[in-house]
Amino acid sequence: MAPPENRHDAAKADVRQADGGDAAGQPVGIDSFLAELAAFREAASAAIGGVADDAGLEQARIEFLGARSGRLKAIQKRLSALAAADRPAGGRHFNEAKDAVTALFAAVQERLARRAVTAESAALDVTLPGEPVRFGHLHPITQTIRRVQEIMARLGFESVDGPEVEDQWHNFEALAIPAEHPARDPLDNFYLAVARGSEPLLLRSQTSTVQIRVMESRRPPLRIVSLGRVYRPDTADATHYPMFHQVEGLLIEPGTTMAHLKSVLRQLASSFLGGDVHVRFRPSFFPFTEPSVEFDMEWGGRWIEMGGAGMVDPAVLAAVGYDPEEVSGFAFGLGVERIAARRYGVADIRDFYRNDVRFLRQF
Ligand code: FA5
Repeated sequence: MAPPENRHDAAKADVRQADGGDAAGQPVGIDSFLAELAAFREAASAAIGGVADDAGLEQARIEFLGARSGRLKAIQKRLSALAAADRPAGGRHFNEAKDAVTALFAAVQERLARRAVTAESAALDVTLPGEPVRFGHLHPITQTIRRVQEIMARLGFESVDGPEVEDQWHNFEALAIPAEHPARDPLDNFYLAVARGSEPLLLRSQTSTVQIRVMESRRPPLRIVSLGRVYRPDTADATHYPMFHQVEGLLIEPGTTMAHLKSVLRQLASSFLGGDVHVRFRPSFFPFTEPSVEFDMEWGGRWIEMGGAGMVDPAVLAAVGYDPEEVSGFAFGLGVERIAARRYGVADIRDFYRNDVRFLRQF
């Protein structure tokens, strides 16, 4: 027997010749048909059995079993050129060859699929540590707000909210800031255009508005803390932002003094910053407190200005219907961004609002 490649080539030549013969009406002999089938079977088995991957298998399928111009198709065409008496035997042999090669194809296809699954599971090592899941977290300003609320709650201060869009009464008048006061200048506040014609409304410029709202609706004793956004047309720089947050504290109880105020601020500072933080008062002025102070905290060997405070002015107590002869209290307000910057060692408060996750991830 000649080597398979040779017979294979010979078979191919045969087909071409035979096709020509068919076209010319030449009958095909059964012997040459069977030889051709045998050559096909051998070549197809060698090719399909030896493929290494899916691409190779597909190529072999097209060559041998392809419905359009596969070699099996070419042989099938020649079946009809057999003598009528030879056709049943030719057809039987043809089907046998076809079934055998198709079965081999299916077996190889399955073997390759199994191998792919095995390779995949070999690549999966369940004992390796998993991919770490990266969780998000609260923004450092929100963390600061929650922390301050927690500390103040331990001192008996209830957290309350107030509206960010305010009327002039709560933002100014009730806080003893009269109409002619420069703090009411439109250039110093964000007035709302929609409110033109009716009572002017503005974005609150301080959380002291909440003091008034709470005192208007409740009777003493009171211990409240309010943390929220406030708005001022300040140019953004390392310590200013046009939208920032304040903490407002208010305590109204008989017999309250500046000593109580200082103790509360010192406890807040010590708990928030850690360690024993000293608090210093400097004389100041706010229309709604008397006396008024700015308070500083000593931290890391430096005094840092934190906010304003004072004893609630009797005129404010009277404006909300309290009797200044009966009750007294203190109030304080400080900037959340400033205390967060101190605590986290952030040099520029604008970084809190740049939304750069590389910065925010650090907290
Ligand atoms: C007030 O707003 C007073 N309502 C505080 C107060 C409350 C006094 C109760 C007395 C009684 P002041 O305008 O100083 O005060 O602002 C308080 C704090 O807000 C400042 O100390 C500072 O920490 C912060 N702050 C002010 N402006 C800005 C700004 N543009 N950006 C960031 N923080 C600011």
